[in-house]
Amino acid sequence: MSQADIGLIGLAVMGQNLALNMNDHGFIVAVFNRTTSKVDDFLAGPAKSSHIIGTHSVEELCRSLKRPRRIILMVKAGAPVDEFIDLCVPYLEKGDIIIDGGNSLFTDSNRRTQELAKKGLIFIGAGISGGEEGARHGPSIMPGGNINGWPHVKPIFQAISAKVEGEPCCEWVGDEGAGHYVKMVHNGIEYGDLQLIGEAYNLMKTGLGLDAEQLHQIFENWNSSELDSYLIDITSQILERRDEDGAPLVDKILDVAGQKGTGKWTIVNALDLGMPLTLIGEAVFARCLSALKEERVEASRTLSGPQPHFTGNPKEFIENIRQGLYASKIISYAQGFMLMRQAALEYGWKLNYGSVALMWRGGCIIRSRFLGDIKKAFDKKPELKNLLLDSFFQTELSRVQSGWRKVVAAAAEMGIPIPCFSAALSFYDGYRSGRLPANLLQAQRDFFGAHTYERLDKPRGQFFHTNWTGKGGAVSASSYNA
Ligand SMILES: NC(=O)c1ccc[n+]([C@@H]2O[C@H](COP(=O)([O-])OP(=O)(O)OC[C@H]3O[C@@H](n4cnc5c(N)ncnc54)[C@H](OP(=O)(O)O)[C@@H]3O)[C@@H](O)[C@H]2O)c1
Repeated sequence: MSQADIGLIGLAVMGQNLALNMNDHGFIVAVFNRTTSKVDDFLAGPAKSSHIIGTHSVEELCRSLKRPRRIILMVKAGAPVDEFIDLCVPYLEKGDIIIDGGNSLFTDSNRRTQELAKKGLIFIGAGISGGEEGARHGPSIMPGGNINGWPHVKPIFQAISAKVEGEPCCEWVGDEGAGHYVKMVHNGIEYGDLQLIGEAYNLMKTGLGLDAEQLHQIFENWNSSELDSYLIDITSQILERRDEDGAPLVDKILDVAGQKGTGKWTIVNALDLGMPLTLIGEAVFARCLSALKEERVEASRTLSGPQPHFTGNPKEFIENIRQGLYASKIISYAQGFMLMRQAALEYGWKLNYGSVALMWRGGCIIRSRFLGDIKKAFDKKPELKNLLLDSFFQTELSRVQSGWRKVVAAAAEMGIPIPCFSAALSFYDGYRSGRLPANLLQAQRDFFGAHTYERLDKPRGQFFHTNWTGKGGAVSASSYNA
């Protein structure tokens, strides 16, 4: 009997919790999983007293659905998504909707939207953030794709998503892969936030010699400041956790960071679009550097550097670190929104930046008070070119920048690596520079490759070549790229 409101394929951590969340909100969910024993385990276990319907084939799943059929895939991103789409298609009819809720690459979602549209089917690529807890009790959901599916999906997604001041953290993002794109940038920003917190931790641990308990107290205090966020909160909790022998667990964890690739996707795309996403780039590379553990241990025995001990006023230093973290975070988000703005131009999407900030305010990993300020900036001026041009953020940066600069300088003197704090400051100083040394660079390019240059005293678009050595010709290269 066709009685289920939605079908869900993929009963791993995200799928199970989303199914239970939808069930709690009164939707009848039919579920399927490649390894079908997991359907039975789920129904006998976590879903025991729910209205969730177990199915043991894709055909059975499709037959159990009300029309238009709605199927959400919560499987491993990549080929498994295409495989399940292909398995579903024979049992679907015009107007049915397939939603991919995994961490798919946005270009795959572009392709899937187009391919399914040709078959009369509707594809929605929805980025879902919040991990296990979010999926169960209210994630942030970023849907994009074929907008014809949105009215059919909106009531379910907005019911199960997180809410901030009564507003659901789920709104239509844009065409084709726009939803997965915004989720990708969210994950990139998450990489940046995590690295910035790690740098602040290292400055206090190494530079001041603070122990886990002291650090726990500091992060707990910071969570009542502008830095109030999920990631600062969990950092404080992690620092408090003891191992079985009573020692801080964090001190026993190997310093090698893993990654699943969404940070890399973000910077690869930033390079494709020519956007200076320096902070997220440094955050991804910091994880790569952490992975070279053996080499680092060897180098630590031979490469010299200063003593990493701060000799000034510790209380002031801690406050400066807090200010530097806040300032760097502003830069990271400004860069993330710059990237989305460029992507919207490049791919023809109409992104609503205020609603992106709202979607990220609750449910997701980067949720924070600070995103409320970003939302206000875009509400004030939806076409805002850059967050750094908003008066609130300008005032904030001028208020905290002296502490930020002192921390970057002190870290350099102590030899403590802070790639993201310093990339953020360099970006800020670069962005506010009316004149950069690219004039010299253009001269160099013209010197060795006849790449031509534009002049300050001539209109843009006129190109000049100089015969720098007297030995070159008057022929210039045809590839001038600003
Ligand atoms: N975990 C998180 O915190 C989180 C947060 C946000 C988004 N996501 C995204 O949400 C999606 C689901 O994540 P997850 O952590 O719940 O599960 P996952 O470990 O990414 O994927 C497990 C699911 O995919 C199926 N699967 C794996 N390889 C397959 C293949 N070759 N063919 C068909 N099915 C295959 C598994 O079926 P079997 O049981 O048969 O192996 C299982 O149902 C992923 O795209 C993930 O990136 C995860």
